[in-house]
Parts: sequence; C-alpha cells; structure tokens
Amino acid sequence: NGKYTVTLIPGDGIGPEISESVKDIYSAANVPIEWEEVSVAPILKGGKTVIPDAAINSVRKNTVALKGPLATPIGKGHVSLNLTLRRTFNLFANVRPCVSIKGFKTPYEDVNTVLIRENTEGEYSGIEHEVVDGVVQSIKLITWDASERVARYAFHYAQASGRKRVTAVHKANIMKMSDGMFLSACRQVAKDFPEISYDEDLLDRACLQIVQNPKPYADRVMVMPNLYGDILSDMCAGLIGGLGLTPSGNIGRDASIFEAVHGSAPDIAGKSSPFIAGKGLANPTALLLSSIMMLRHMNLNEYATKIENAALSTIAEGKTITGDLGGKASTKEYTAAIIEKLRRA
Ligand code: IPM
Ligand code: MN
Repeated sequence: NGKYTVTLIPGDGIGPEISESVKDIYSAANVPIEWEEVSVAPILKGGKTVIPDAAINSVRKNTVALKGPLATPIGKGHVSLNLTLRRTFNLFANVRPCVSIKGFKTPYEDVNTVLIRENTEGEYSGIEHEVVDGVVQSIKLITWDASERVARYAFHYAQASGRKRVTAVHKANIMKMSDGMFLSACRQVAKDFPEISYDEDLLDRACLQIVQNPKPYADRVMVMPNLYGDILSDMCAGLIGGLGLTPSGNIGRDASIFEAVHGSAPDIAGKSSPFIAGKGLANPTALLLSSIMMLRHMNLNEYATKIENAALSTIAEGKTITGDLGGKASTKEYTAAIIEKLRRA
C-alpha cells in the first residue's frame, strides 16, 4: 500500500498520551506511515531484565521505531529498559540536536549544536562489584572500536548536515587511558575528513563556556563518551527551554530508535489504565521532534519540514502552548493547534 511500517512503543506515564498526539498529527499530515504498536512491559528472566519478543521482533523487522518514555521498574535485578533497548540493538550513536526555537524566549538565543553520545559503553557498561566491604568499583569500559565507530558517525553527520567542526569532549587530563584512547580514535578519524575542522574540549571547560555563551558552539557537532553526553545533553536542553523540547535518535546499523529524552512524568500522567485518559498536561513536542528526526532518517523530508514548521510556529506564537512552556493549553488543544496549521499550510 506504499506505506512504511514503523514500530511505536508508547511507553509509560505520559507516553501513551504524547504518542496519541503524534499519531493524530501524522494522520492530519497524511504521512505514509503505518504504526505497529508494541508494549515493552519488562520481564525478569534469569535475574535479568528482558524485553518481550514481540517488541524485539517488531523493531528488528521494521528497523525504525519511535519510543515514548519507559519507567525503570523498581526491584532487584531490573536494569533500565531504555538501556536494554540500546544494548539489544547495538544503537551505538545517540544523536541529540539542541537548537533554539525561534520566537520562544529563553535567556539564550541562537543555540544550535548537536551532541553525539557514545551509546553502548563507558560508565553505562553496567559492570560493578564490591571489592571488599565498603569498597566498590564501577567499571568505565572504553573500546577502540566503539570510539572509532561513534567518531566516524559524528564526522559523517557533520558532513551531511553542513556543520564545519567536530569537537571531542573529554577528561583525558584525568582519565588518561580511557579518554585518551577515545581522543586518539577521534584524531585518526579526523584525518579522513580534511574539510571538517577538529578540536578537543575538556568537559568542565565546555560546560562553563556554553552556559556563559553558547554562540561559539553553534554550527558544530560535539562527540563524547556516554556519561558525558548524558549530562551535557540535559544541560544544553536547559538552554533552549528544557527536556520538553529536545529530540533524540539512537542510531545503529540494523535499527534506529527515536525517543524523547524526558522521563515518564508520573506526576502529571493519568492513571495507568488504557480506559482513563491522560490529564492533558503533557507536552508532546520532544516526542514529535524526535519523530521528525525519524522522518528525515527515512528520507521523508517533505513531511518532516511541514510538521516541524507547524509545531515550531505554534510554539513561537505562544497562544496555544502547554503549561511547562508557560501556556494554558491542554495536550489536545496544543495538538489541535498544530493540526490546524497543517490544514492551512
Ligand atoms: C537519557 C536518560 C537515560 C540515560 C536513562 C533513562 C537511563 O537519562 O536518555 O539521557 O541515562 O541514558
Ligand atoms: Mn539523560
């Protein structure tokens, strides 16, 4: 039927409500996508968190997924489902653009950077043990292959998006071996991209510089080990209005999963029953912008631009925006305002 099938993982908390909003906007824009909805309720198997086969098979078959927030189940043996998904599909690069929304006022203007976070190892390797009572080791695992792979992705990304510089963010002054090797990998890859300039920045220095003046960081791609990217991406999100506005994509060779960076926000979600609607307080923008990254990944650029313009201009006008952005609109009213713009476009 000429349509693409995409896996949709609505997720927990506000997840179903913001997913509904994306689906409504996609129908209104006639996006040629059919959603295959799957649940990622966690299963404990042999002391490890696993994801239901139906979800795994769906992502594997469709190779593209859009995912709402997943709560990490509380209890012994459970690890984050988000991390389990990244690991299961070897989603090695986490791409987090951070771009000011024109017309939406924050103390910062012209933020325009892209963070690319190594997504499979580092402090997230999950290797921890108690050496003796009162002494614990958490292993930060860095491999040449994963470093080289994410560096290469960052340079390709810069090339494809017309960004002129790649900056590797690190603490090699302290982590001489692990971050040192990460930098060596970046330097080696940089040689293959003579038209893109390359430099290096200490993580703490970069944080200070960016909050004082983000302009020098515009038009570049920053690449870094896993935990640094986790922290720096939240900080940068804060510059443009918060996690309600920032998209992200987890890129792998066999599959890619696009997701909002924010959590499931149980405090503003409806009851966890499919028969009780959400409270209408959630902002679906981050998931919508993540889906727009997904459309571009799928080469559905026209739809991406159309929906992006409708959403961003709705935010810029500021009449029908959600509470977290300083407005009074419900999730549905905001969604309807975007759809109205699509109709008139
Ligand atoms: C993120 C989140 C995750 C992370 C959590 C939910 C495991 O904070 O995507 O940035 O730490 O990577
Ligand atoms: Mn995070």
